[in-house]
Amino acid sequence: MIRSFTFSDLDRILQIELQSFPKSPYDWATFINLHYLYPETFLVYVRPTLDRKEGQILGYIVFTKEGHIISIAVHPQHRRRGVGKELLQRVMITPHLKKVWAEVRRSNQGAQAFYFHMGFQVTGVVPNYYGNEDALIVQWTSPSGSY
Ligand SMILES: CC(C)(COP(=O)(O)OP(=O)(O)OC[C@H]1O[C@@H](n2cnc3c(N)ncnc32)[C@H](O)[C@@H]1OP(=O)(O)O)[C@@H](O)C(=O)NCCC(=O)NCCS
Repeated sequence: MIRSFTFSDLDRILQIELQSFPKSPYDWATFINLHYLYPETFLVYVRPTLDRKEGQILGYIVFTKEGHIISIAVHPQHRRRGVGKELLQRVMITPHLKKVWAEVRRSNQGAQAFYFHMGFQVTGVVPNYYGNEDALIVQWTSPSGSY
C-alpha cells in the first residue's frame, strides 16, 4: 500500500534514510519541512504485517507537482523487490505530468540502473552538485503527456 507520510512514520523513515544516504542523510527537521511543503506528494510504501496493525514502512518518495523527485529510498533489506518501482510509478502516472526528473550522484550506479530500468535518460550534469561530486540529471518524458 502507498499512502501519504504522517508524523508517526518519522522514526522509521529516519532509519531508512541513514542506511540509504550515509554520507548526507536528511534529518528529522528536513522531513517535517518536506511534509509541510509536499503533504500530498510525500508518500510511504507500507507492507501489511500480521503483528502490527499499521504495517511496516519499506520505503518513501517525495516529489513536487512538477515532477521533480526530491528523494526516494527503500530499506536495504527490501530492495530489488519492486518497491522503488511502485513508488516511482506513482509519480509517472500523475495526470498531465509531461516529465519526471531527479539528480543522482555520479557514483550511485545502483540508482542510475534503477532509473534507466524505469525509462529515464541522462539529460545533463551539474558539476559539484554534492560538494565534491557531480550530479547526473536523469529524466523521463511522457510519450503522451502522462504515463
Ligand atoms: C534506488 C532504489 C530506490 C531502488 O529501489 P528498489 O526497490 O530496490 O528498486 P526495484 O526493486 O523497484 O528495482 C526495479 C529495477 O531497477 C533496476 N535496479 C534497481 N536497483 C538496482 C541496482 N542496485 N543495480 C542494478 N539494477 C537495479 C533493476 O532492473 C530492477 O529490476 P530487477 O530487480 O527485476 O532486476 C534503492 O536502491 C535505494 O533506496 N537506494 C539508496 C537510495 C538512493 O540511491 N536513492 C536514489 C537517489 S537519486
